Amino acid sequence: MTKRKASKQPLEAETHETGNESIVLAKAADPSNIVIFGATGDLTKRKLIPSLIRMLDCGLVHKDSRIIGLVNKRSKEEWIQILFDGLVEIDHAIIKSPKKWKAFTEKLILVPGDLNRDKSYSLLAEAILPLGNCKQKNAMFYCAIPPAWYGKVAQGLGKAGLVSEAEGYRRIVIEKPFGMNLETSLALNAELQAVFNENQIYRIDHYLGKESVQNLLVYRFANGIMEPLWNRNYIDNIQINVSETLGIEYRAQYYEKAGALRDMIQSHLMQVMTLVAMEPPVEFTEDAVRDEKIKVLRAVRRFKPEDIDSLTVAAQYAKGVIRGEIKPAYVAEEGVSPDSVTETFAAVRFQIDNWRWQGVPFILTSGKRLPCRMSEVIIRFKKPPFNLFNEHASLPTSNALIFRLQPDSGIVLRINAKKPGQTTDNEVMEMHAPYANTDAVADAYEVLMHDVLTGDGTLFSRADEVNESWAIIEPILNAWKNRVSIDRYPAGSCEITAMDKLTKDCLCGWYQPGQDQSNEE
Ligand code: BG6
Repeated sequence: MTKRKASKQPLEAETHETGNESIVLAKAADPSNIVIFGATGDLTKRKLIPSLIRMLDCGLVHKDSRIIGLVNKRSKEEWIQILFDGLVEIDHAIIKSPKKWKAFTEKLILVPGDLNRDKSYSLLAEAILPLGNCKQKNAMFYCAIPPAWYGKVAQGLGKAGLVSEAEGYRRIVIEKPFGMNLETSLALNAELQAVFNENQIYRIDHYLGKESVQNLLVYRFANGIMEPLWNRNYIDNIQINVSETLGIEYRAQYYEKAGALRDMIQSHLMQVMTLVAMEPPVEFTEDAVRDEKIKVLRAVRRFKPEDIDSLTVAAQYAKGVIRGEIKPAYVAEEGVSPDSVTETFAAVRFQIDNWRWQGVPFILTSGKRLPCRMSEVIIRFKKPPFNLFNEHASLPTSNALIFRLQPDSGIVLRINAKKPGQTTDNEVMEMHAPYANTDAVADAYEVLMHDVLTGDGTLFSRADEVNESWAIIEPILNAWKNRVSIDRYPAGSCEITAMDKLTKDCLCGWYQPGQDQSNEE
């Protein structure tokens, strides 16, 4: 995708060779003090450090930048060892190159202290310096910490004078969940905005950093053939399905309170829905894009308590088998209460009340321990009005345009063709256009951190978007919170009968992940 523009000035570009691939990347940002809160945590080890290593390697992070960790009760050697062990766990190439590793560790600066003490932030302020030839004291503050700490960190930075941009940019990055409902989201946004301006706050939704998700906008707005078809006149229903084979891993404490609706639908899937449904922005700048996304959310029909049963589905995985391996039931996972009714699968049927989408259901589904890992957007077109070719054969199936986000991203067009031979009967044919299955594609965290460093907020959620999406699902949360039982599906299956009811008037019903679709009607 062409690099986004924070202003109308095109970014300079340069080409990097990566193995056999050559990719065009935006130029490195100015040198920055990259501050990580939660510098020994899991996100830092598994995502941030590997991304920063690669970004430094290919010039997306300026070579004079430094990585500052606020680290409590540990020496610099211990911190470096923790990061190294994390890289060993993911078998990162740098562990085999002592020279490269040493060069990387020279960029690490440890500031001792903890998030609770004002003194830690004063020490941090002393560590933030102008770097290389840059006279500015630029700083990015990455909160790789539990959300309960975000407000505290913002206050600490404010008190230490680290928010004013008089001497360089100051940007804070926060991870989801942005609250657990509308009230907590409003409170969190108010806490952050009491210290930072909205344009200094970067709320990461890693789905927006995925190359294939950004590509949705290019498919839509760089191809003239899409627009005339992209509306209620031609489309019967749209489904956004994200299925995972993974369970909840080590995150029972969080997941028990969150469930699939909060964990995936309120954030990643609703963000994807806005990209699919939005109007063309007037220009490709952060506010123009985000203004169109928020209009979609504002047009989503609000759920009435009496409609929740017919417009949503919740289910939980029971014991089952995935690729020959027995997987335990959700309630048997470590840290999960044996009588938990938390949903590990959620589906919501949205209605967007505007001219383009009136009457077109948007079905969003996400589940853990399903048969395969697959994220797709399925655009299901209306059928031809009658069967011209063979009165004895069934009406040709409706066409589907499938944007496969992961794995094997690309487009699939399902189209009817004549069955070969002495017949006028038809059969479904698939046209595949693969997209970017290559190591040259940056990880979502690389894309997003680079955007923070260059000050481009297009791929980040603005406060109004986050609040609006919570407001939309709040009635569902309220209805679900008193649930005393939940339907179950065997791990490794899509046996969720309520999905039939949810999609009964949608052409071809639920497009189940990983299921052979050739038998559609
Ligand atoms: C995270 C959720 O935001 O996204 C996880 O908290 C989920 O539960 C993950 O597994 C899925 O991300 P991806 O990139 O693997 O599709």
